[in-house]
Amino acid sequence: MSTLLPEGYTLRAMGPLDLRQCLDITRRIQWAHRGEDWAQAFRVTRGVVIQSQGRVIGTAVACIKGMFSSIGLIAIDPDFQRRGLGRHLTKAVLDLATQNVSLVATAEGRGLYESLGFKENGTILQLMLSPGDSASRPVEPRSSLRVARTEDSDDIHRLYRLATGAYSQSLLDDLLAVADAVWVVPGRDQEITGFCIVRPFGRGAVVGPIVGQTVEVAVDLIRASMHHFPQTTLRVDVNNNAAFSDALLALGFRTAGSGTRMFLGAPPLRDHAVCQFSLISQALL
Ligand SMILES: CC(C)(COP(=O)(O)OP(=O)(O)OC[C@H]1O[C@@H](n2cnc3c(N)ncnc32)[C@H](O)[C@@H]1OP(=O)(O)O)[C@@H](O)C(=O)NCCC(=O)NCCS
Repeated sequence: MSTLLPEGYTLRAMGPLDLRQCLDITRRIQWAHRGEDWAQAFRVTRGVVIQSQGRVIGTAVACIKGMFSSIGLIAIDPDFQRRGLGRHLTKAVLDLATQNVSLVATAEGRGLYESLGFKENGTILQLMLSPGDSASRPVEPRSSLRVARTEDSDDIHRLYRLATGAYSQSLLDDLLAVADAVWVVPGRDQEITGFCIVRPFGRGAVVGPIVGQTVEVAVDLIRASMHHFPQTTLRVDVNNNAAFSDALLALGFRTAGSGTRMFLGAPPLRDHAVCQFSLISQALL
């Protein structure tokens, strides 16, 4: 890390003892992460922190996926913003990443990333459904989804790699390990053609990633989540897909925020026969 910081600040690798203070920062900016969400991010990424007088005041992580990376959880404590620290932090986390990097920018972060060479690559819509939001709950899924079995693991990994073009085995294994539910879409011959992972996150559960061949199948995976978790607030980060977000709004979801998908270098090459309809999270993509 070659970045020169203003006097009084230190930039260093994130360690497990930092997680409590990282959580404090994201709470202060009203992000929904729990301690468990930070612990998971720490397991599957490399992170940096900025420290001032022994206190962590900035965080950022990079998730390495072969030749590609995603960066996220870039946050400066509100008392320390607009002093140039966010720029130092982002450059430092880029030093940990590969050359080709994706992220989801907030309105506050977008100018910073543009100035570092990131280009826009679509919109992420954050949709939420709280218990009681939808008149139509509970909703029966329409197709023949089934609960994932251990032997589906290779297919799930293969589909995720095809749909994203940017793949980390340890990331997907970690998501599967903490999942509350994993549904798969059986194809004609034994193989599966889609899946979704539901895991606890923030104030409820995230339905993501959702991977499949059609919007109809992706909506069905959402209906399964609604049906099985009627008392849980569900969050879906829709990956640049208006037809899918319109279908979720019709099911009772509401828009809770949005972000700009951006990349530096080359975007991953993906197989267009299968699509990632929702993100794991805005940091892990
Ligand atoms: C985005 C964030 C990390 C920037 O950190 P920072 O230390 O305040 O940023 P810096 O002082 O290094 O400024 C970097 C650039 O971002 C711009 N910027 C900073 N805060 C901004 C804001 N609130 N709105 C718009 N632009 C902003 C500045 O204009 C600056 O450009 P300049 O160097 O040409 O003047 C910080 O505002 C933050 O933590 N926000 C809340 C969490 C968030 O949105 N994170 C981004 C996730 S993708």
